[in-house]
Amino acid sequence: MRAFFVICLATFALCIVVGHFPAGADTPPASTLPKVEAELARRGALKPASAFAGIGDRNARSLALYAEAAKVITHPRCMNCHPADRSPRQGAAGRIHIPPMTGGQDGHGPAGQPCTTCHGRENFVVGGENIQSIPGNPAWALAPAAMAWQGKTPGEICRQIKDPARNGGKDLEALYRHMAEDDLVGWGWTPGKGRAPAPGDQATFGGLIRAWIDSGAACPA
Ligand code: HEC
Ligand code: HEC
Repeated sequence: MRAFFVICLATFALCIVVGHFPAGADTPPASTLPKVEAELARRGALKPASAFAGIGDRNARSLALYAEAAKVITHPRCMNCHPADRSPRQGAAGRIHIPPMTGGQDGHGPAGQPCTTCHGRENFVVGGENIQSIPGNPAWALAPAAMAWQGKTPGEICRQIKDPARNGGKDLEALYRHMAEDDLVGWGWTPGKGRAPAPGDQATFGGLIRAWIDSGAACPA
């Protein structure tokens, strides 16, 4: 079944009629991705934690595990929602959000134009040439300012996500659960038509975070 909706981008007073396709029509082959997203998709797979088990030195193993996990953490699918300037980003190149948008008081957007004006509970296929789909998730919101990652090195992000004062009060176990089980984090692997997913899958990523924590959660300098 296919239902039709009208989407309006208020800022541009622009309305388009789009078809809503059932989930599942959602993951296109890499060949149908736009050029920059296709390049991103080719960056390669995510190694499982077991690939690092042979590194005898505990600290070196932990660093190697984090470096692998950082392929996900620094991926545009995550970075675009963890900006430094309260303005979400779009696409593989992290361009400024169109229309211009800020997190507002609570990350859900400015009064009068919350994220939910356009972002629904699930990805929404538009099928346009420039915008193939609009991302969606029930928890869609901008990460708090304290959780800004954009412009930071993997080492800086590492120390930040371990710091309960800057990670929403999470100890390492809560951080693991967030990475391995949180549904909004999981969106990174089901980002909707026209977007390259984060490398690997959430379970493999969770396994890397588990092994990283178990080996001392070391951070690069
Ligand atoms: C739609 C926006 C959005 C996307 C996409 C997103 N995040 Fe977040 N992230 C948030 C919000 C909002 C919070 C705060 C909510 C909370 O603490 O539960 C957050 C918090 C976090 C935290 C808590 C600790 C901290 O210091 O940041 C981690 C870790 C995290 N996200 C990881 C990821 C990863 C990994 C990805 C990509 C696979 C990702 N996020 C993609 C919005 C997003
Ligand atoms: C007026 C409509 C509108 C509002 C309001 C809106 N967005 Fe968007 N957003 C879009 C559209 C359309 C896209 C898809 C654009 C594309 O893929 O080129 C998008 C894409 C995104 C992406 C890109 C994901 C990726 O990795 O490419 C992020 C992140 C995002 N929005 C976050 C937010 C957040 C957070 C809010 C609220 C603070 C918000 N948006 C409010 C319309 C909106």
